[in-house]
Amino acid sequence: MRVLSGIQPTGNLHLGNYLGAIRNWVAMQEEMTGESRCFFFLADLHSISEHLSPADRLRNVREMAAALVACGIDPERSVLFNQARVPAHAEMQWLLNGTARMGWLSRMTQFKDKAGKNREGASVALFTYPVLQAADVLLYQATHVPVGEDQKQHLELTRDIAIKFNTDFGVELFTVPEPYIPKETARIMSLRDGTAKMSKSDPSDMSRINLTDDDDLLVQKIRKAKTDAEPIPADPAELAGRAEATNLIDIYGAFSGQDRAAICQQFGGQGFGAFKPALAELLVHHLGPIRQRYLALKDDHGAIDAILIEGARKAAAAAHPTLMGAYEAMGLMR
Ligand code: ADP
Ligand code: TRP
Repeated sequence: MRVLSGIQPTGNLHLGNYLGAIRNWVAMQEEMTGESRCFFFLADLHSISEHLSPADRLRNVREMAAALVACGIDPERSVLFNQARVPAHAEMQWLLNGTARMGWLSRMTQFKDKAGKNREGASVALFTYPVLQAADVLLYQATHVPVGEDQKQHLELTRDIAIKFNTDFGVELFTVPEPYIPKETARIMSLRDGTAKMSKSDPSDMSRINLTDDDDLLVQKIRKAKTDAEPIPADPAELAGRAEATNLIDIYGAFSGQDRAAICQQFGGQGFGAFKPALAELLVHHLGPIRQRYLALKDDHGAIDAILIEGARKAAAAAHPTLMGAYEAMGLMR
């Protein structure tokens, strides 16, 4: 079993990123035993599909690396790196461009969503983004790739590329990976609108919990979170149609480990005036230590870069045989 996943280095990490992605990575790392390792990386090469100043890009990579470590990714146990430091990713993508089909890429919904009406003005990198993602996965012979639902199509494309390459060149070079979409992955919604997902791009900072929010701000955001006038029902079925209430209960459950039924049983009949302080306390308890580790590491560029350089060294060594195998299979090297 080899686990691999990537995340785009965007600034401003929030509770949705933590519960929806990073926490699953930490859980997978904890399950690894013996020589097995997880590979986790910052997809900085993917980030060039949208323009960003060099300073912002570098800051995002370092902040995201610090956040991953603060959340529990242990660079001693997992290989943590940024893509740009491992040239094999860019090389392998170019090789796979021979295998990927225009028609396959044209059907990718993320490209269609992100390019919108401006297809002519979108970068070529945005179009070929899924081929780089396939290279990321196939280089390491990954068997399990934890991703959110939105990345499932890219993983299916990765499988198609692996199978076609193996078939076209008559080799068994690439492991065909499985997408691993953890069932209980939380989808955290905005604190201001229970039908919109919590996002860094929401203009209202009160809509999200950032990993950098201090205890007072956490308490304040939960106190001001939108709810309705009804009390918490004893039966979770009665949460239907109450998006904001459901979201707060789910956030509570994500940290307490309880399901909706257990929380409804515990708080049933009480109003949000009683529930919110309990939720805020739970958040302070769990996010406080993460924030402290993050703030301590965030500006220590030397320490962060050292982690990423060492991770890149291990990643490059792991990727090398597959890259050479691809050159050879294609008759480009012998
Ligand atoms: P944003 O929506 O804030 O721009 P990204 O698209 O950069 O977040 O997401 C990075 C990772 O965090 C992805 O794996 C995504 O599935 C996860 N994620 C983002 N927002 C949420 C959310 N509200 N609930 C659950 N997971 C989320
Ligand atoms: N495209 C993924 C996302 O936006 C990030 C990513 C890049 C990735 N390469 C990957 C995820 C390889 C899994 C495997 O979330």
